[in-house]
Amino acid sequence: MNSFFLYQLFLFVFALHTTATIAPTSLFPGQSLSGNHTLLSAKAEFRLGFFSPQNTSTKKGYYIGIWFNKIQNQVLWVANRDNPISDPNTSQLAIAQDGNLVLLDQLQTTIWSSNITQNLRTNRSLIATLLDTGNLVLTDSSNSSDVVWQSFDYPADTLMAGEWFGVNPETGAGQSLTSWKNLQDPATGIYSFELYPPGAGSSGQYVLIWNQSKVYYYFENGFVSSIVDMPFNVNYSYEYNGHQFR
Ligand SMILES: *[C@@H]1O[C@H](CO)[C@@H](O)[C@H](O)[C@H]1NC(C)=O
Ligand SMILES: *[C@@H]1O[C@H](CO)[C@@H](O)[C@H](O)[C@H]1NC(C)=O
Ligand SMILES: *[C@@H]1O[C@H](CO)[C@@H](O)[C@H](O)[C@H]1NC(C)=O
Ligand SMILES: *[C@@H]1O[C@H](CO)[C@@H](O)[C@H](O)[C@H]1NC(C)=O
Ligand SMILES: *[C@@H]1O[C@H](CO)[C@@H](O)[C@H](O)[C@H]1NC(C)=O
Ligand SMILES: *[C@@H]1O[C@H](CO)[C@@H](O)[C@H](O)[C@H]1NC(C)=O
Ligand SMILES: *[C@@H]1O[C@H](CO)[C@@H](O)[C@H](O)[C@H]1NC(C)=O
Ligand SMILES: *[C@@H]1O[C@H](CO)[C@@H](O)[C@H](O)[C@H]1NC(C)=O
Repeated sequence: MNSFFLYQLFLFVFALHTTATIAPTSLFPGQSLSGNHTLLSAKAEFRLGFFSPQNTSTKKGYYIGIWFNKIQNQVLWVANRDNPISDPNTSQLAIAQDGNLVLLDQLQTTIWSSNITQNLRTNRSLIATLLDTGNLVLTDSSNSSDVVWQSFDYPADTLMAGEWFGVNPETGAGQSLTSWKNLQDPATGIYSFELYPPGAGSSGQYVLIWNQSKVYYYFENGFVSSIVDMPFNVNYSYEYNGHQFR
């Protein structure tokens, strides 16, 4: 495929989207999201699309995120948190040929990917759907219960109601929440809430850790078991039934 064809294809896909007035819930193979186009969950609770944090000085970076439809400035999940793109108009969130959900920049370079390698049969048709729980799921197009990948498995800094959080019994890997670098930058920050020691499986405990080195809180069975040292306020947010705790 030469680049002119790709460009034409891109224009065609873009044109398809600009005629759509209501934001769709799902992204199907061959479709893509660009610019200010978004996915909207069925009951309009959550929206997914490109965003740029407020007050970014000089060069604006854009990210694919999920936010409450009614509270645009509160982003709950970020895909490409460490790899901003510069222009949402020429970037695309799409289903790649191999079924992965990918973010491509204007040069068609993959900036972010759902990165699944298992469960990908040749020519398997997958669709990405934004659910009313705020979960973005990649499922088989003929069986919506067959979830191949979901954003709930990869929280950013926020745990949402209904979100699974714990240790994967097969790999022993624990999920983690990691703060934004600062209010204007969703990049991986210096505070994490994660399994400790790493790879400990269910025998480990959850800690609030700074720079992968200094532990501030130990959590066991949902309770704080010891507070080592907590000199200042950390911006973690936890979502429960739409309420936020810091
Ligand atoms: C999206 O961008 C188009 C083109 O600039 C504009 O006409 C439209 O109003 C925008 N929609 C929203 C929801 O901002
Ligand atoms: C953005 O800048 C405006 C004006 O300087 C300020 O009032 C606002 O609090 C800032 N917002 C954030 C999120 O920093
Ligand atoms: C994207 O396109 C819209 C409509 O043409 C324009 O208003 C907006 O500034 C563009 N965004 C960027 C980051 O260039
Ligand atoms: C995808 O997997 C590769 C190799 O394991 C890794 O380097 C990369 O960071 C992963 N990307 C994402 C978005 O997880
Ligand atoms: C996958 O799809 C391509 C293009 O439609 C087709 O040429 C190829 O035969 C398919 N492969 C399989 C294993 O179905
Ligand atoms: C759909 O997927 C689920 C989960 O993988 C599976 O349990 C179920 O049997 C599948 N249904 C059909 C009709 O294949
Ligand atoms: C975090 O730790 C690394 C070494 O592990 C160190 O190079 C870096 O300076 C530390 N960051 C801060 C903010 O102290
Ligand atoms: C935490 O976030 C709030 C706004 O959401 C801000 O006012 C406050 O300064 C932040 N605290 C720290 C320690 O960054």
